[in-house]
Amino acid sequence: MSKLRLAAEDITAGYGESDILEKLNFEVPAGKVTAIVGANACGKSTLLRTLSRLLTPRSGRVMLDGKAIHKMPTKALARRLGLLPQSPLAPEGITVADLVSRGRHPHQGTFGGWTKADDEAIATALETTKTDTLADRAVDELSGGQRQRVWIAMVLAQQTDMLLLDEPTTFLDISHQVEVLDLLTDLNRKNNTTIVMVLHDLNLAARYADHLVAMRAGKLHIAGSPEEVLTEAMVRDVFALESRIISDPVSGRPMMVPIGRHYSNSDR
Ligand SMILES: Nc1ncnc2c1ncn2[C@@H]1O[C@H](COP(=O)(O)OP(=O)(O)OP(=O)(O)O)[C@@H](O)[C@H]1O
Ligand SMILES: [Mg+2]
Repeated sequence: MSKLRLAAEDITAGYGESDILEKLNFEVPAGKVTAIVGANACGKSTLLRTLSRLLTPRSGRVMLDGKAIHKMPTKALARRLGLLPQSPLAPEGITVADLVSRGRHPHQGTFGGWTKADDEAIATALETTKTDTLADRAVDELSGGQRQRVWIAMVLAQQTDMLLLDEPTTFLDISHQVEVLDLLTDLNRKNNTTIVMVLHDLNLAARYADHLVAMRAGKLHIAGSPEEVLTEAMVRDVFALESRIISDPVSGRPMMVPIGRHYSNSDR
């Protein structure tokens, strides 16, 4: 499978009068797992929305394999790049099976034409997210975590070379969080799918990402390997939090322990 090159070139983007991202440059490492971290309202979702064309930059451009995405036909883009937004809204009353099948729309021709490949993609997406038992249920009657897994199934059914996921583990209990991250890692390793995800859990981000990006106030504060990025200085600069970094006993990756007001850095 070919590796896609997605890059933001000098983008300035925002809402109304205000610029959130200013002259931001960001190249997505092809075939890798990238995690974006940063404080609330620093512009993570705005960046993902701009990278996936939901938001048009005021200046600069987003390039996919040498083409400006804002000039690409919608379906062509959606066959290559899938987006899971932070708070997606399902049409009222839609069933799980119907919602997940919408992931196949970019693959339909002008005159429709459902194929076996579509059925297989949906079945695989439902199975891998363990939502197959929910297929006939209405999406708006599901728990937050079940619903989140259904959205992930939809974006998996799209079968794109690149996935942008805005907080894919929100609402999930810890075992489902690990399961979703393992599943995304499988996709990356087996199909070479490029993954970019926003995560709030710094330790899971450091554990699962090849490339870690910390944003601060609309800018990329630091990017690199988890070892380079998850440091006490970064946590202080980006989250205004004192912490200690230890080694995750399972993966050997850096692991952040917050200190908080009731302990001090010298407490053991
Ligand atoms: N549709 C919108 N209209 C106006 N302002 C917006 C809109 N969406 C976001 N903003 C503002 O843009 C800034 C960045 O928001 P963004 O959603 O990118 O943050 P974020 O880093 O994803 O935060 P969070 O961790 O809370 O999801 C915030 O100040 C927010 O209030
Ligand atoms: Mg967000």
